[in-house]
Amino acid sequence: MSIETKIKNLRNQINEANYDYHTKDNPKISDFQYDALLKELIELEQLYPEFDDPSSPTKKIGGIVLDKFIKHTHKVPMMSLGNIFNESELDSFYERIDKVISNPTFAAELKIDGLAVSLIYESGKFVKAATRGNGTIGEDVTENVRTIKSLPLVLNEPIDIEVRGEIYMSHEAFKKVNLERANEGLDLFVNPRNAAAGSIRQLDSKIVAKRSLSLFTYAVVEPMLYQKTQIDILKYLDKLGFPVNPHYKYVESLEALKESINYFDELRKKLKYDTDGVVIKVNDLSTYDMLGFTAKHPKYAAAYKFQAEKQITEVKDIIFQVGRTGVITPVAELKPVFISGSLVSRATLHNEDYILNKDIRINDYVYVHKAGEIIPEVIEVIFDKRNDQEPFKMIDHCPACGGVLERKLGEADYYCTNPNCSGKNIFGLIHFASRVAMDIDTLGEKVVELLHDQTYLQTIPDIYKLNQYSNELQELPGFGKKKVEKLLDAIENSKNMSFDKLIFGLGIKNVGAKVAKTLVNVYPSIELLIDAKYEDLITIPEIGPEIALSVVSYFKDNNNINMLLELKSFGLNMTHEKEEILEHEFNNKTFVVTGTLDSFSRTEASSIIEKLGGKVSGSVSKKTDYVLAGRDAGSKLDKALELGINVMDEETFKVKINE
Ligand code: IVH
Repeated sequence: MSIETKIKNLRNQINEANYDYHTKDNPKISDFQYDALLKELIELEQLYPEFDDPSSPTKKIGGIVLDKFIKHTHKVPMMSLGNIFNESELDSFYERIDKVISNPTFAAELKIDGLAVSLIYESGKFVKAATRGNGTIGEDVTENVRTIKSLPLVLNEPIDIEVRGEIYMSHEAFKKVNLERANEGLDLFVNPRNAAAGSIRQLDSKIVAKRSLSLFTYAVVEPMLYQKTQIDILKYLDKLGFPVNPHYKYVESLEALKESINYFDELRKKLKYDTDGVVIKVNDLSTYDMLGFTAKHPKYAAAYKFQAEKQITEVKDIIFQVGRTGVITPVAELKPVFISGSLVSRATLHNEDYILNKDIRINDYVYVHKAGEIIPEVIEVIFDKRNDQEPFKMIDHCPACGGVLERKLGEADYYCTNPNCSGKNIFGLIHFASRVAMDIDTLGEKVVELLHDQTYLQTIPDIYKLNQYSNELQELPGFGKKKVEKLLDAIENSKNMSFDKLIFGLGIKNVGAKVAKTLVNVYPSIELLIDAKYEDLITIPEIGPEIALSVVSYFKDNNNINMLLELKSFGLNMTHEKEEILEHEFNNKTFVVTGTLDSFSRTEASSIIEKLGGKVSGSVSKKTDYVLAGRDAGSKLDKALELGINVMDEETFKVKINE
């Protein structure tokens, strides 16, 4: 046997052993045998570097140290899911779908509590992994993901495919890493999700390899190219060699959906990893385009969140925060209490009415839970434990600048009326730099606070002047040359951020991410947007009078105009380019699809044609450009031949769609 074959055989044996142990939880060889095979392979690879291969299982040991992660633009955005918190929201979700496709069926899957990852394979070989990032641009974490034992480096079919899944840390691995950190005097990770996310962001893949991360895959990019239903996608992923969570269910009715949620809620208590809900996906992939999307979520799926745990604690104080629009939010400072995996010492009280309705007072004992398992919230006072606490009284001056507070008629919130309020500025800055807006990595809350306190940052344009103070910034606590360089790079990169993110980042009242997108589509430059008229704005379907008014009054304010001009002078992108239409042969061509196709349903074929810019019609006429004819095509094919219209067979169609 040649050395090359010997190496190949060893690689196959080890890949199989990894699969049996880590993916199927069914080891077929002993640890001793495994170690011996690996040792032999490592030695041979050292002796014969000419047979080096990135798909070798020895690469799972790690060893590559990066100085930063490269950005990766997702071919198809990594969206998140809309949440469902109770039965009535589940009913509405079902009704919405049932209206579009009657009697829908679903795949119900556990929602794994980790971090999303996109995995790219070429000719069946693992080539790249990227984090979700802001959904459009993530980070290339290939070397770290390669170390995950259950990640297949070679698939069972030599195909090109992009797969999405969740990296998570089991309870056992979590305990181990925290024990090690405690021994080294390091801060502990608060939960397995943070530990998994923190590990994936390590620059040294050897450290990642030691963290014992795990993986489940649950989706494929452009799934219809591979299968017809979500259940089939899960089976297909399993067949390719990917780890797939085995606890999924095919569900045929609303009743069955509810039953499956109860089943999963019980099941999850027995699992060795964290889950935070059930992901419900319409099973028939061909209906997804029809069901559509919101700005953030697809409408064909949703995440049913499990009921969060509630705990009793004491309200030590009620303080007030100033939001980016000047809104004042009362917050309860609590005696720290452990809820759903983390220590909670603050909880939102929303507004004056919320506090008065629940009659929450300083020194009360209250129930606290995590709304959506994330945001701590005071839900109820325990009146039996009350003594002589003073009733709550709302403040009338801004806690940040001392400005007068105002509560407009019909609104629940108080706002600071001072346009130069320092409190407002800081939240505006945090929002502007945040992931969802301009995505200026490293300019997070803490850094904004520090730079604000040190007077480097008061306004948004100040962000783009920070490069003048590069040397001074390096002297600030927690800063250094590297961090300042990283910050300034991120700021420079943000100048190319899309126009809608910039508009969203400005924090205009009522202008969220979706409205910002709509606005830049209709007004694709800052000049046009500044001149937008109220009467024109309200004719746009998603924009009502309230939004239109906010937009017009924002751009009427000279301070805002001057700020935008200043940003423009720094080179920020202030135009929106319409999405390129795919230049494909099918663009603008009219098709009729007839007969039985082997690889697609007619609906699938039609949706592919439409994706490539073509139109699909039901009947053949002189205007038809092509008839896609499958087996047993009848009168439509006859008519096409009669009119001399191009007839395309399935094989040609398959070749053309890949061009
Ligand atoms: S499907 C369009 N399936 O939950 C998004 N997601 O908010 C399709 N997750 O970003 C995601 N388990 O990180 C899907 N079985 C599952 C999942 C799952 C966990 C995560 C994922 C996603 C988030 C949704």
